[in-house]
Amino acid sequence: MTRAAHGGGRETFFGLGRGQFPRLLRAVEGRKRLVYLDNACTALKLRAPAEKMRDFALQGGGCAGGRSMHALARRSEEAVAQTRAATAAYLGAASPREIVFTSGTTEAVNLLARGLPASPGRREIIVTDLEHNSAYLPFYERARRDGLSLIVAKTKRGRLDFKSLARLVSKKTMLVAIPRSSNVFGGVLPLDAVCDLAHDAGAFVFADEAQYLQSHREDVQESGVDFAAFSAHKLGGPFGVGVLYGKEHLLNTLEPHKPGGGTVAGLKRSGGVWRPDYLDAPRRFEGGIQNYTGIVGLGETLRLHERVDRPALRAHITSLVRRSVRGLSDLRWARVLGEERRLVEGSIVSFHVQDKRFSASDLAIFLDQDLPRDSIAVRVGEHCANLLHGRLRLHETVRLSFFAYNTAREVDRFLDALCEYYRACVGRPAMPKTRRPPARRGRRPARKVCRRA
Ligand SMILES: Cc1ncc(COP(=O)(O)O)c(C=O)c1O
Repeated sequence: MTRAAHGGGRETFFGLGRGQFPRLLRAVEGRKRLVYLDNACTALKLRAPAEKMRDFALQGGGCAGGRSMHALARRSEEAVAQTRAATAAYLGAASPREIVFTSGTTEAVNLLARGLPASPGRREIIVTDLEHNSAYLPFYERARRDGLSLIVAKTKRGRLDFKSLARLVSKKTMLVAIPRSSNVFGGVLPLDAVCDLAHDAGAFVFADEAQYLQSHREDVQESGVDFAAFSAHKLGGPFGVGVLYGKEHLLNTLEPHKPGGGTVAGLKRSGGVWRPDYLDAPRRFEGGIQNYTGIVGLGETLRLHERVDRPALRAHITSLVRRSVRGLSDLRWARVLGEERRLVEGSIVSFHVQDKRFSASDLAIFLDQDLPRDSIAVRVGEHCANLLHGRLRLHETVRLSFFAYNTAREVDRFLDALCEYYRACVGRPAMPKTRRPPARRGRRPARKVCRRA
């Protein structure tokens, strides 16, 4: 393994060359270093998939989906089939037929929520309060449409309360949805245990993997999860392409959510009406010409991710999460959401400051525009997790989210800038909460922030 180094373009990031992220090599406004800590929203884009997409668009460009038989169409057909097979392999799926291409996680969840067939007696859908709106709202709308009960399982500091979830799951449950990793709390939710619990009651499980696959691997057959979804852009791939995984026999029970060209074997006349004879999954869900260029980009993105030294990547991100949590915990006025021992499993740290003089939105502008040497990108607000923020009565939180290219120095720059902003808006020195104990041997102490206060 080659450890990640700071700056420059020569270093290797766990099998992903730093040069693979061209945006990192360019300054902001011609002079500032980009410190990109908004990876949960979207990761910076990898070079190789972008180049592959450009080549495909310019050199290929025929339509796939079994429409035409000429050379360009065959090329697209092959490219789509290759990505489908690569995605199936990446997720440990039993067959490429279990992979449906969508425009992203949002469309994937909508497909599932709308298409899941009604089952007599199963009138309840369970979600958690950690759900992103892209997972909550599709199930909310489905429940509203069909008069089902939508039950929100509460979490505590980002943890599933397993006992109370066990009390909620019953023979009436149709499906249990969880985020594999919360886009606010980070951490990791125990999919295997949720699958055991739900399957014992005969319910399906959906895992929202949008914040998980960046630095973790999933094996859908090992966990037994019935449905899962993710987006390419959060892995450094293209916008506008994602995946719904579903067990093949289950996918074929779902109603097509966007019927159209390419989804039917033909139309049959019965009762005076021409009725569709829908193809099996995945084609029944891929109506109309697809984002073939994006699909090619996804294929290349997964190929790069296959090469990543995953334990090393996780160790690196864990160290960044730990450094951030410790740095923030050292401040009297910042409150981190969640517990360090759970947060280090994920890639996200969120916090808030309960002081009316402190504005997270102003902080974001300050970090982006007002620092002399850096431009630091973070996310502030509710992060489309309105359920959670509503329940915690938080108006806005600040979120740092990490990927392979982030460094400890960037965490420190953020912490210094945060203190600078705090001093400027609140007007009193920001001191470390406690004196740190002497560093233990073999461990690098988290850097003291606000040392200039
Ligand atoms: C947990 C989670 N689920 C779903 C989504 C929606 O993903 P997309 O916008 O790519 O469809 C996001 C996006 O941030 C997310 O964090």
